[in-house]
Amino acid sequence: MASNPLDTKSTAWSALFSEPMSELVQRYTASVGFDRRLWRADIAGSRAHAEMLAAQGIISSDDQRAIERGLAQIASEIESGAFAWKLELEDVHLNIEARLTQLVGDAGKRLHTGRSRNDQVATDLRLWLRDEIDAIGALLVELQRALVELADAHADTILPGFTHLQVAQPVSFGHHMLAYVEMFARDAERMADARQRTNRLPLGAAALAGTSYPLDRERVARTLGMVDADGAPCVCQNSIDAVSDRDFAIEFCAAASLAMVHVSRLSEELVLWMSQSFGFIELADRFCTGSSIMPQKKNPDVPELARGKTGRVVGHLMGLLTLMKGQPLAYNKDNQEDKEPLFDSVDTLKDTLRIFCEMVGGIVVKPEAMERAARRGYATATDLADYLVKKGLPFRDAHEAVAHAVKQAIAEGRDLSELPLATLQRLHPAIGDDVFAVLTLGGSLAARDVLGGTAPVQVRAQVARHRARLGA
Ligand code: ARG
Repeated sequence: MASNPLDTKSTAWSALFSEPMSELVQRYTASVGFDRRLWRADIAGSRAHAEMLAAQGIISSDDQRAIERGLAQIASEIESGAFAWKLELEDVHLNIEARLTQLVGDAGKRLHTGRSRNDQVATDLRLWLRDEIDAIGALLVELQRALVELADAHADTILPGFTHLQVAQPVSFGHHMLAYVEMFARDAERMADARQRTNRLPLGAAALAGTSYPLDRERVARTLGMVDADGAPCVCQNSIDAVSDRDFAIEFCAAASLAMVHVSRLSEELVLWMSQSFGFIELADRFCTGSSIMPQKKNPDVPELARGKTGRVVGHLMGLLTLMKGQPLAYNKDNQEDKEPLFDSVDTLKDTLRIFCEMVGGIVVKPEAMERAARRGYATATDLADYLVKKGLPFRDAHEAVAHAVKQAIAEGRDLSELPLATLQRLHPAIGDDVFAVLTLGGSLAARDVLGGTAPVQVRAQVARHRARLGA
């Protein structure tokens, strides 16, 4: 019999196997190249498991101490880069366990009592993702804060609001920024919600059916911080489900995809606004690149890439859904394929949020260009119609009269506010010289003084609400 079944893959699993694995199959089935990043979670899970095994009298406290010591050394080896990862040992779990046995002997071999890699990997992935969700939540808060500051500085700055990418009505640039704050706030809510279903313990499910050892699963859950808001342990309640579903990872990827879609829409606007045709903003040079052939070019590479990377994160969501859809219960090796898409989604979202936190603070707003564009688009036409309604006209008639006014203004190449009173009165006799107050962009903005509206006083009230909520 081989001295240690974990020493090499050629002697792997059991005496049942009569030939070694080919090099290609070894490479094809191994996951250690990417799942090694779960090492902290793997060690935390093993420590909690060993502590419980000892408390339940399943292993001796001497063995537990040896395991503790061995795992602490392995952690420092991995941290320092001294740990020798072996492809033959397939994955992070077997690599760590083999080294543990090398370091502490039989105690190391006892660690896997009442456990399977099936419940181990599901636990590791949940622990790892939980901490990443927390990091992402913090970044979403930071991004919202940056947008709120920009909104506050530009509560009075006039931007042409668009529908169908045609100038519609003037809005406060700050109001427009706060629209993104709402989106990222919901993204943070979704992350917090997904966290609750991620932070549940599979360990104790073993391979799929549970185990015959008297495990205290709730103790392990508490040790690992897998508890609800009231401190009650959160344990997966069905062993088959515990090892086989990855819906928590899929749910995270869905929330990550939505967050990226929001970033992507903002990116698209930044790209448009920075173009010569709009000229509404400038981005700090450090977020742009030049062209190798056209010396005049400054390209908004960072928002363009963020828009592109959104496709990648949405693709990972599709990949994970497809990975899961045909799998019979319980664990299948297919699930090893859950890691790279999940890891890449986390990395992409975190990097994108980090870079946006920085970039938003560096946006240079050009209010004159925005105002000029709002004027060119007859953005106060609705205000003129509302004015006529207040003078007693039915809205449909007012709408018609204003259409004629806009036609006239276009023909004369002027803004509505530049038409002489006499011209306006020819359109409708009810028009008086108080009309010019509503035809200004500022007047239009101030008039939309409804909860959630674009009036600068409303924008400032929202800024205050967000600051209180975000602790800014
Ligand atoms: N590396 C495997 C994974 O990522 C660990 C679980 C292996 N379990 C098994 N029964 N082969 O899913």
